[in-house]
Amino acid sequence: MKGIILAGGEGSRLKPLTSHISKQLLPVYDKPMIYYPLSVLMLAGITEIVVVSDPNNIGLYKTLLGNGSNLGLSIDYAVQDSPKGIPDAFNVSKDFISNEKVCLILGDNIFYGPNFSQSLLEAQKNLEGAIVFGYPVKDPSRFGVAEFNENEELINIEEKPEIPKSNTAITGLYFYDESVLKKVKTLKPSKRGELEISDLNQLYLKENKLQCINLGRGFAWLDSGTPDSLLDAGHFIQTIEKRQGFKIACLEEIAFNSGLIGTHELNNKIKSYGESSDYSIYLKGLMKNGK
Ligand code: TTP
Repeated sequence: MKGIILAGGEGSRLKPLTSHISKQLLPVYDKPMIYYPLSVLMLAGITEIVVVSDPNNIGLYKTLLGNGSNLGLSIDYAVQDSPKGIPDAFNVSKDFISNEKVCLILGDNIFYGPNFSQSLLEAQKNLEGAIVFGYPVKDPSRFGVAEFNENEELINIEEKPEIPKSNTAITGLYFYDESVLKKVKTLKPSKRGELEISDLNQLYLKENKLQCINLGRGFAWLDSGTPDSLLDAGHFIQTIEKRQGFKIACLEEIAFNSGLIGTHELNNKIKSYGESSDYSIYLKGLMKNGK
């Protein structure tokens, strides 16, 4: 299973914050936004990852994450010339995906909740076709919204419906089988000129091969695409981290605990971050306490 982080886009709702820099490089409390989706792929056990971004920012992502080896990962990069829509991620990274199954995560999505790693691993084991993740929201009209039949089976996804058929939004995390590239090739741009992820999911639905896993109300799914949601996400992460003393989306911790890196690599990362940051002090604590 390969992983794609989509980290391009206009970020128009965040201008002028995003006038000079890609949205997913902005901070969410104590780390760059892209750490959060990257941590999800790592928790899903995915180690071969491609970061997709625009020509102006791809170099900054390379500076931040390198080739991934210091996290026990292999990170590639692909350029999306302009924001042609979410499924375009597959076109620009087709050489990387080759003929494998793939997990796509949007770079501005934050997931936090119990047993998440376990459910991601199980989802992959049972992957036949595609899997999306649903989440209850108060304002479904802003999202792709799931419709279920009386057996709680997914029967439709409507993009930003005026009258939503449920309060279940489809989140920015998707698993697809090997047929995804072939399907993406058949998509046509929508009225707004973009390839739509809901259209791709519709193709799987037609084949009866789209499953929706509902993330319950005890789970947190946040996106950080507007000034308010960005600030809310920062406060949320700060609250949990301060209360528990554990960090959310600490990449080195996930890599260390899953055996992707050892104490030598962890020490190198601590050195690269320096002595003074809270993040670095946290990593030092991991070194001291071991796994
Ligand atoms: P959106 O939030 O739909 O778009 P955006 O990030 O450009 O923001 P805005 O609506 O304010 O202009 O995108 C969801 C995620 O997907 C986000 O992380 C950016 C990314 N994205 C791309 O990388 N390329 C694309 O072509 C699109 C549409 C989105």
